[in-house]
Amino acid sequence: MKASTMKKKLVLSLLLMLLLPLLASCVERQVYIVYFGEHRGKKTFNEIEETHHSYLFSVKESEEEAKSSLLYSYKNSINGFAAVLTRHEASKLSELEEVVSVFRSKPGKYSLQTTRSWEFVGLEEGEKSKKLKKDDFWFKARYGKEVIVGLLDSGVWPESKSFSDEGMGPIPKSWRGICQNGDAFNSSNCNRKLIGARYYLKGYEQYYGPLNTSLDYKSPRDMDGHGTHTSSTVGGRTVPNASALGGFARGTASGGAPLAHLAMYKVCWAIPGQGKEDGNTCFAEDMLAAIDDAIGDGVHVISISIGTSQPTPYPKDGIAIGALHAIRNNIVVACSAGNSGPAPSTLSNPAPWIITVGASSVDRAFFAPLVLGNGMKIEGQTVTPYELKKKMYPLVYAAHVVAPKVPKNYIAGQCLPGSLSPKKARGKIVFCMRGNGTRVGKGEEVKRAGGVGFILGNSPDNGAELAADAHVLPATAVNSDNAIKILKYINFTKEPMAYIVPARTVLHSKPAPFMAAFTSKGPNTITPDILKPDITAPGLNILAAWSEASSPTKLASDHRVVKYNILSGTSMSCPHVAAAAALLKAIHPTWSSAAIRSALITSAGLKNNMGMPITDASGNPANPFQYGSGHFRPTKAADPGLVYDASYTDYLLLLCSSGLPNFDPSFKCPKLSPTTTTNNLNYPSLAISKLNGTVTVERTVTNVGDGKSVYFSSVKPPLGFSIKVSPPILFFSHMGEKKSFTITVKAESDGVGTVGKNGYRFGWFTWTDGVHIVRSPMAVSLA
Ligand SMILES: *[C@@H]1O[C@H](CO)[C@@H](O)[C@H](O)[C@H]1NC(C)=O
Ligand SMILES: *[C@@H]1O[C@H](CO)[C@@H](O)[C@H](O)[C@H]1NC(C)=O
Ligand SMILES: *[C@@H]1O[C@H](CO)[C@@H](O)[C@H](O)[C@H]1NC(C)=O
Ligand SMILES: *[C@@H]1O[C@H](CO)[C@@H](O)[C@H](O)[C@H]1NC(C)=O
Ligand SMILES: *[C@@H]1O[C@H](CO)[C@@H](O)[C@H](O)[C@H]1NC(C)=O
Ligand SMILES: *[C@@H]1O[C@H](CO)[C@@H](O)[C@H](O)[C@H]1NC(C)=O
Repeated sequence: MKASTMKKKLVLSLLLMLLLPLLASCVERQVYIVYFGEHRGKKTFNEIEETHHSYLFSVKESEEEAKSSLLYSYKNSINGFAAVLTRHEASKLSELEEVVSVFRSKPGKYSLQTTRSWEFVGLEEGEKSKKLKKDDFWFKARYGKEVIVGLLDSGVWPESKSFSDEGMGPIPKSWRGICQNGDAFNSSNCNRKLIGARYYLKGYEQYYGPLNTSLDYKSPRDMDGHGTHTSSTVGGRTVPNASALGGFARGTASGGAPLAHLAMYKVCWAIPGQGKEDGNTCFAEDMLAAIDDAIGDGVHVISISIGTSQPTPYPKDGIAIGALHAIRNNIVVACSAGNSGPAPSTLSNPAPWIITVGASSVDRAFFAPLVLGNGMKIEGQTVTPYELKKKMYPLVYAAHVVAPKVPKNYIAGQCLPGSLSPKKARGKIVFCMRGNGTRVGKGEEVKRAGGVGFILGNSPDNGAELAADAHVLPATAVNSDNAIKILKYINFTKEPMAYIVPARTVLHSKPAPFMAAFTSKGPNTITPDILKPDITAPGLNILAAWSEASSPTKLASDHRVVKYNILSGTSMSCPHVAAAAALLKAIHPTWSSAAIRSALITSAGLKNNMGMPITDASGNPANPFQYGSGHFRPTKAADPGLVYDASYTDYLLLLCSSGLPNFDPSFKCPKLSPTTTTNNLNYPSLAISKLNGTVTVERTVTNVGDGKSVYFSSVKPPLGFSIKVSPPILFFSHMGEKKSFTITVKAESDGVGTVGKNGYRFGWFTWTDGVHIVRSPMAVSLA
């Protein structure tokens, strides 16, 4: 072959290699969501579906093809559909004026937000619920009676005692939902507690093919455990003497709103070919269908412990779109902030109409100290029920006992699957570092290699946060300082030895709360002028009900069955706040979702149980990019004094000024003056990104306390900035009265020197009448 022909051939094949994937992606049929905003005018469901069909027919070859490509036609509030389209068809539809956005549904984009670790336990909430019962607030809120909370999750285990309807009030007359039949589930599984249950699978099956029913139930029934956990956290009944394997934390189990009604919308499913401990997937088109139904069914609060690992612009974020429609229907929406911390800018669900919830610890620990051969005692935590015989065992670092052939990308010392040599690990306690892989999976690997026990060491990123896991062998987990101590001991000792003391439950541990290292952090990269997260709530080692079709670790090799289990994640903190919102809704049925959110935000606490500022997992002071306005205090939120209200239109105006496409094509953005900024959404906190000189923003507060009152402002300015609140005093003569004020933020002359470029500084502004403290966090950065 001549060199020139060879060259030509090479060029041709190179071209083909480059073009083929391009061509393939043009023809490749994917699920797209085509979103039109709100439904306008009165239309029947048939008329809506017909309209959606006609859009599809306009880009498809035939009527049949148009019909068969449609997965969902959203009809209650969301105007849009999900369909199988080529990229070309999708782009044609996106050119239509009435279309707000067209976006591809990406598999694996959304998942439930636990930190891939769990275990079982009896009950942590015992103490709390005793206190709550006496509490006037829960009484006033009638424990959430008549409020309906919908959850998007992995399903529910209806037989759990947490979902008993004994003594519950009747199903509210306003309820229009259903109890959908399916595998091992029918309407008999619903009752006056669990009043609705549906499942959404079309997007999942379009991508993965028919559901493998040994992985999950084709019904609202939960084969994972997560949905059972979150829904019992919101509204589980008071269950005395609940406990689990090992009897950890025996006590009374109770959800935050034990008399609220629950509705499960199952949208998250097992991923074929992947262990359940490694996660699950939830498709945007399935979630939109669920939210649209929840709106039509008549829920009052929606709790969504689902998110992305990356921030997503709102017009392409199924949860943000669905939540805006929920807000328009006066439904409160709480979402998890994500578990991608401690890196900054890692938030999911930062939309201004959502309550974005971070995660922090509770004051309960499971002490299982480690004793080293030199007599040193090291703190550790676990909830494994397995115990060592009381004697010292040889201790090794995983990196020193690796198998001969380990995949190159395996990081030494992390006990990834297949990495340990049984020859070297047998009979020993193995020390493993956190990093890649699941925590329980590391224990499984040590057990496989014949280790008798294992120690899980935190990396510096994990700090002092210890997630208590139900490991499959004797184990304990240690913080990063102690991990280094243990490594030193191993490195500098001839025959290192250790013993793990069996775990016991300890209450009133200090400090609590502290921020979980995994909780996702601000700033909000989608709308930087909205401070997120909003608030923090318990999300570390939370005990709640569990599916009996799953094991406490979710490992396939683990066959234990438990009724209650401990999980960690913003998935666990979100339902706490959803429960608080349900209680507030019961006390103040006429309040808007923005008013409820404002009450929660401005009443949050900043101190731990040692009377000191809340810290991060390493003991450093935490800031509003971790906890928003602080730790939620539902009792205080019931009587906030003032609220920052906002309407659906206010959110549309925010979208106008943020330059994002508007969600409602019928809404015409007003002409924006150059001074219009996204800061002016009447939000109960304030973020100013890239301040150049001075900015003045306006806020309006509504008096929700009794009648006559005088509120004084006070300010703790961010370092390097001056803050002026005007007027500094607000006089109210009656309940419901609104007063506006401005906040002027000015960079001080040496501001750049103090703050630096891109750095954020935090401060607070507060209104108080001597009884109520209405506190708002602020975050400011310089241009
Ligand atoms: C639901 O399923 C159970 C168990 O299979 C059955 O006994 C019951 O009759 C069913 N109920 C309805 C309403 O179909
Ligand atoms: C379904 O899942 C089970 C368990 O993972 C697996 O053994 C089986 O091969 C799967 N079936 C199909 C048809 O993929
Ligand atoms: C609680 O349950 C355990 C068994 O799970 C039982 O031994 C104990 O007596 C129970 N305690 C009460 C107060 O009912
Ligand atoms: C996890 O593994 C990837 C690649 O295998 C590596 O780049 C990354 O640093 C690892 N992360 C940790 C925390 O060890
Ligand atoms: C102990 O030795 C391992 C390598 O075997 C090394 O990675 C680690 O940094 C050492 N640690 C200390 C504290 O000496
Ligand atoms: C700040 O504002 C001044 C005056 O309006 C302008 O000249 C300057 O370019 C701005 N700087 C930045 C970084 O935007």
